[in-house]
Amino acid sequence: EQINKGSYEHYMQKEIYEQPESLTTTMRGRLIRGGSCKAKSVLLGGLKDHLKTIRRSRRIVFIGCGTSYNAALASRPFLEELSGNIFQLLTGLPVTMEIASDLLDRRGPIYREDTAVFVSQSGETADTLRALEYALENRALCVGITNTVGSAIARNTHCGVHINAGCEIGVASTKAYTSQIVVMAMLALAIGDDTISSRTRRDAIIDGLYDLPNKVREVLKLDQEMKDLAKLLIAEQSLLVFGRGYNYATALEGALKVKEVSLMHSEGILAGEMKHGPLALVDENLPIVVIATHDVCFSKQQSVIQQLHARKGRLIVICSQGDSALVCTGGSCRVVEVPQVEDCLQPVINIIPLQLLAYHLTVLRGHNVDQPRNLAKSVTTE
Ligand code: G6P
Repeated sequence: EQINKGSYEHYMQKEIYEQPESLTTTMRGRLIRGGSCKAKSVLLGGLKDHLKTIRRSRRIVFIGCGTSYNAALASRPFLEELSGNIFQLLTGLPVTMEIASDLLDRRGPIYREDTAVFVSQSGETADTLRALEYALENRALCVGITNTVGSAIARNTHCGVHINAGCEIGVASTKAYTSQIVVMAMLALAIGDDTISSRTRRDAIIDGLYDLPNKVREVLKLDQEMKDLAKLLIAEQSLLVFGRGYNYATALEGALKVKEVSLMHSEGILAGEMKHGPLALVDENLPIVVIATHDVCFSKQQSVIQQLHARKGRLIVICSQGDSALVCTGGSCRVVEVPQVEDCLQPVINIIPLQLLAYHLTVLRGHNVDQPRNLAKSVTTE
């Protein structure tokens, strides 16, 4: 039943729409509500015997390719924040990022004291698998986060977490991405110590996780709005996506979705780097998506928007509900309002309008949604 399209025209569309359910399945049995005097917590069965080693490790290294790499990148800020524990004197663990092929090209440093986390939807990507062999040779603790029970990465890592997003058929990963982020949020909560000082924040994130499927249902209502936007952009050559902080990864992943399925050039750009090159591209023709939902970087994104306005940039701003007037001062822009969730979970919400945009652009441009040219769902050669 899972692998037919049902009433949907394409697997990608079905998988975008399945996200409230796939996220629910990802979290099932793993969030503990806590009783009257018991704290809310997270239980990841596949990790429980290794949490002590992870907490004592020197750093966490995320390793992956494509969308899985982007999901890990989205998780880095909250893992850094929440992984504080007594071994680290309550400051977070250092978290570094590795694209699997680049780690192998450099034979980059992986230490015995590292926790290496391999993120892969299929669990079979050749580069990620080779990087796993390399990390095992270097005797790091290897953790697998995959969507495929029994896959090579699931089998060969010391421990891990299945994301349980259900079978993903579309080459462009959608529901696996959001489930990966949610698993990594749970991982961060599991690693971090439940101290009095972090209790409020941890409880807010756990409550946010419970409510996330409902918020995803809400954001999916933007479908028609994103289709209308796709109609406006159908003939464009290029689309930039600016993000920062929690949503730098959203910019990379949104741009990856657009380029891989709609075959339109698209780049995700760290907004903090805008003045170091990308600003030269800005004119009244090039469409630019700016992600400016409410978080600690919001005022910086407001200033980015003003600078883009000053160069007559053609802006599409993704902002929190009710923030239109705050983000669209000093110039005209198209605004897409999304529901606000706990800041570190916002990437799960913010990617969805961009998934919908990529989907509609692809259909309108007449390209193959589920099997984009030259791409494979699982790349099993280096
Ligand atoms: C291919 C797929 C992407 C995926 C990447 C990594 O390029 O087309 O959608 O993100 O491989 O795959 P993995 O299965 O390791 O997540």
